This record gives sequence, C-alpha cells and structure tokens, in this order.
Amino acid sequence: MLRGQRTIFEGVRHAMPNETLTITDNRTGKTYTLPIDKDAIRAIDLRQIKTGPEDFGLLSYDPAFQNTASCQSAITFLDGDRGILRYRGYPIEQLAEKCSFLEVAYLLLNGELPGPDELDEWIANVTRHTMIHENLKKFMEGFHYDAHPMGMLMSTVAALSTFYPEARSIHDAATRKLEITRLIGKMPTLTAYAYRHSLGLPYVYPDNDLGYTKNFMNMLWRRTEPKFSANPVLARALEVLFILHADHEQNCSTSAMRAVGSSFADPYATTAAAIAALSGPLHGGANEEVLRMLDEIGSKDRVPAYIEQIKAGRGKLMGFGHRVYKNYDPRARIIKQVAEEVFEVTGRNPKLDIALELERIALEDEFFVKRKLYPNVDFYSGIIYQAMGFTPDVFTVLFAIPRTVGWLAQWQEMLLDGEQKIARPRQLYIGKPARQVVRIEEREAPAAMLATVAR
Ligand code: CMC
Repeated sequence: MLRGQRTIFEGVRHAMPNETLTITDNRTGKTYTLPIDKDAIRAIDLRQIKTGPEDFGLLSYDPAFQNTASCQSAITFLDGDRGILRYRGYPIEQLAEKCSFLEVAYLLLNGELPGPDELDEWIANVTRHTMIHENLKKFMEGFHYDAHPMGMLMSTVAALSTFYPEARSIHDAATRKLEITRLIGKMPTLTAYAYRHSLGLPYVYPDNDLGYTKNFMNMLWRRTEPKFSANPVLARALEVLFILHADHEQNCSTSAMRAVGSSFADPYATTAAAIAALSGPLHGGANEEVLRMLDEIGSKDRVPAYIEQIKAGRGKLMGFGHRVYKNYDPRARIIKQVAEEVFEVTGRNPKLDIALELERIALEDEFFVKRKLYPNVDFYSGIIYQAMGFTPDVFTVLFAIPRTVGWLAQWQEMLLDGEQKIARPRQLYIGKPARQVVRIEEREAPAAMLATVAR
C-alpha cells in the first residue's frame, strides 16, 4: 500500500498498462491474469476465481485493513518507513513553520494554498459560524459535572444535525461548503463550552475580532477581563499543534468518517462517528493516557522498571508505536521543538524529564527497536497541553478540532469519488452450519454455549 502511494503521488514508478499478476488456483489448475494499477490489484478481480459455478468466488481476508487500500486519495501522503508526511504535496515541516491553521485547512479542503484574498474570505466565512444556537448551550448544560469532554463533544456535534436539517443535502456542493465551514467554525466553541462545563465555569461567547486559535483560547480562559489577550507564543504553539493534527490519511477515525458518510448520513452525524472513533485510547485518546502513564511512573528513576513491565506484556507504552510509521513520527519531532518554546513561557513541565528518559531507554531497547516502536504524535502533545493549563481529559478534544478539517476533506473526496459505494465489507463466516430450532421444552441445557460465553 505504501509503495502504491509512492507511485501515485511521487511518480517514482508509473504503472505500466501491461502490469499484471498471474495467479494459478491449485484447486482447479486454472490461471488468471489480474491487472496491477498503482501497485495494487483490485480485490473484486479475485471474485472470478472459482472452483465451480456455485462457488461465490475468492475473497481477500484482511482484518484491520493492514494491507487493503479502501480508496484513492489526493489529500495526504504518508511514508511510514521514511517518516514523511505531506498535505497535498507540502511537507508537514514547512506547513507548520510557514502557515496558519486556517491556511492549512483551506489547503486540505481545496487542494491548493489560498492567496491573500481567498484566505481573507475563508477566515471571514469560518468566523461567521463560531456562534452556537442557545438551545445547544442548554443541551450542554444537561451533562453531569464530570462528563468526559469527548462525550460532550461527540453528542453536541451529533445534535447539530437536528439544528441544520438542510445538511442532509450532501450532494449539493453549496450546502456541503456551508456545512463544512459551519462545523469548522463551531468546533472550538463546542470544545471550549465542554471544557468550561467540566470546570463549572460560565460559557464565554466567541470574540470574532480574534483569530481561530486566539478566539479558542479566549473562550477557554477568559475570566472577568473585558478583552482576552492570548499569549502569542502559546497561540502559535496551539496553531502548530492544530496543523500537525489536521489530517493523517486513512486512520481509524477517518475510516469511520468515510464508512459512515458512505451511507449518505449528514456531515454532523458522520463527524460524531469519527469523534467516537478518535476517543479510543489506541487512537486520539492516547494523548490522555500518556499523561496518566507518566503520572503512574512518577519519577525518572522508575522508568526502567516500567519499561520492564511493558516488555513482560503488562500494558503498552502509550504514545509509542504506529500502524504506518515504522520510523520516527515527523509530527513528534516538531512537537518536541514546540514544547521547548511553550516551556519558555509556562515553565518546564516536570513530566518532560520522565518522557525523555522513557524515550531514551525505549529507543535503545531491543524490544522496541525490533518492533520499530517510536514516539508518535501523542507522546509529547499532552505534556504541552498540560503545561498550557489543560487537564488530561481535554487533550483528545484538542485533537478533534483540527482533525475535523481532515475528516471533512476526506468525506467530501469520498462523496465526489465515482468509484465509492456504501462501505460494506465481507466476512468469513465461522459459525454453525444450518440447523433446526428445537422448542424450549425439548431443548437441552446449552452447556457448550455457556462455556463459549464465559471464555
Ligand atoms: N507498547 C508496547 N508494545 C507495543 C506498542 C506499545 N505502544 N505498540 C505495539 N507494540 C507491540 C505489539 O504488542 C506487537 O508485539 P508482538 O509482535 O510481540 O505481538 C508489535 O509491537 C506490533 O504491534 P501491533 O499491535 O501489531 O501494531 P498495530 O499497528 O496494530 O498498532 C498502535 C498500532 C498505535 C495501535 C499501537 O502501537 C499502540 O497501541 N500504541 C499505543 C497507543 C498509541 O500511542 N496510540 C496513538 C497512535 S498515533 C496517533 C493516533 O492515531 O491517534
């Protein structure tokens, strides 16, 4: 799949028209020739391989889609072996250095960086949609004081679908554009409200004189001052973190976005599904878990013992490892630099020393080296967020704000892709063969069934 991506996006090796794969089915002795395009065969081409007319045809079996491309995409390029990440062809390092988050959002959604006029118009449009309906605020108030911010965000994004029923017209380009802009505008507001709800603080309305991240910081942290003034270093750090998290091709939440969107659900319901996927500790929820892990370790001298515990199979090193990156995650490298800048303002987070020691030991250890386990984006982001004043349960909602842009870009691409259909994988049935139902009075105790359930 990675080699295939290189062929599509880098032009390293163009698919030749006569590139084919010849398969011999040893069950029948028949030979089939399948076309190879962009270093991939089409799974549907396997269907012709049959043992007889009654046979359904050959399937490919790929739990967790480890070697299956579910779409063609022109949005994000990722080479996990070389630690490369690009949005629309631009290296993530350059985007993080030279662009604002909304510039990057425009790029992801439209394919090109905006010129000054396009950017002004885009910012004005997003800013116009920062307010949320007062009824949605009441909805938020209904949550218990200790509701997890991800749960609140997921529910309120889903609730937006009831406020904007016209969003169901997903095939209308103008409606799509409006709802995409609306959702990007509202995400910081919903997140800030969820954050302040968990602290028991009154909600702060958006200040549309401020930029995207500064306004977000205003809604998070303004107390009684008439005008909130964000620290520019922290605002820029948040901007960079947002850029790094904006898209990451076909990860779990983006795949959820595409799968749910393929049923033509509206963008709010679809984004709520993606938020649900992101909340898990193996995905976006890992940033929260990293801080809990660092708390559990407690001090630098306890790192070796903790590593031994992981190697013995008791838990995972959170913030380490990645399905695609088998080299240093380029986002983690940038985040480490951002951390230094943030700590100049906030003071050094003492957790950083534990994290650095954990990284140092893990990168030298045979267990981690052999498995190509490196720090991922979530390893250092939480340490920055905590230094900025966020509590760990808010970390994943901070991931969700920028990723919404990637989700929506991928959702739109999926809707415009003539090859896409409703997502509907196949299965290999391993259950009982057909059997007859016995009436309850004649049925024996299901000992075997109970044993299966207890397992
Ligand atoms: N700590 C210890 N061992 C690990 C870890 C880890 N963090 N990650 C993978 N391994 C081991 C795994 O047990 C397996 O060992 P073995 O070959 O002996 O069975 C080997 O490495 C291969 O791992 P895998 O489970 O096949 O890898 P995967 O591609 O299915 O999982 C992952 C990728 C990110 C879910 C996993 O590395 C993980 O759980 N990491 C910790 C959670 C985390 O940091 N998630 C954030 C991912 S990046 C940002 C995002 O997606 O939001």
